[in-house]
Amino acid sequence: MAHGHSHGHKGFKFDVSNLEKLRDPERLRYLNPDAIWRVIVREPPRVLVEIGVGIGYFAIPIAAQGPGRTVYACEINTVAFGYLQENLRLNRVSNVVPRLGSCRETAPRGVADWVLMGHFEAVDYLDVAFRALREQGTIVVHGLAPEERIATEPGSRFSAAAASAGVETLEMTVRRIKSYSPRISHFVLEARVKIPPKGLSDRPASGNA
Ligand SMILES: C[S@@+](CC[C@H](N)C(=O)[O-])C[C@H]1O[C@@H](n2cnc3c(N)ncnc32)[C@H](O)[C@@H]1O
Repeated sequence: MAHGHSHGHKGFKFDVSNLEKLRDPERLRYLNPDAIWRVIVREPPRVLVEIGVGIGYFAIPIAAQGPGRTVYACEINTVAFGYLQENLRLNRVSNVVPRLGSCRETAPRGVADWVLMGHFEAVDYLDVAFRALREQGTIVVHGLAPEERIATEPGSRFSAAAASAGVETLEMTVRRIKSYSPRISHFVLEARVKIPPKGLSDRPASGNA
């Protein structure tokens, strides 16, 4: 395992074999961008921000299927970012705005109606997602949690971060995607939220020291 640079308080690791996994055709079985598309189609985003975009597995199909939309694609890792740029060229997609660096510095503010959070530390960055939204929108968070806590932990962390930022949670669902390691599962939380008219509170979100 190669250790990447430390950005912010937690630092990040980067494992080249993880990058390989992102283009594994096996992913299509359990995490098909088309399945996400079916949800998106009910409420097509005009502006979507993806945090932790990797090589563009979600961002590219989402952008390609909605040429009128803008997809901001934030990625911290330079190697993944290089592949993303190459994949944008290969797929001739011009409505993706790639942004290299931590989402805390690179995510746009006040523009999105969807935020997709594709990295497993995403719950620590919910304040970034809330700030990216324009007023009302959908946040999709991928994460990891112990199997027996999937039904409670992700939802309560989300609600606490939302309450702390003064954001109203209108609806929320949590789904288990698959096993990640013997006791840990990969989940997806999808929430519809409303940003208060007065703007967000500056209090730090819970779990976001
Ligand atoms: C598990 S991968 C998923 C990539 C993509 N969403 C997918 O499903 O193919 C997570 C990605 O998030 C990136 N990442 C982690 N922390 C980040 C941060 N703070 N800001 C932007 N990108 C980040 C990692 O470098 C990695 O490429």
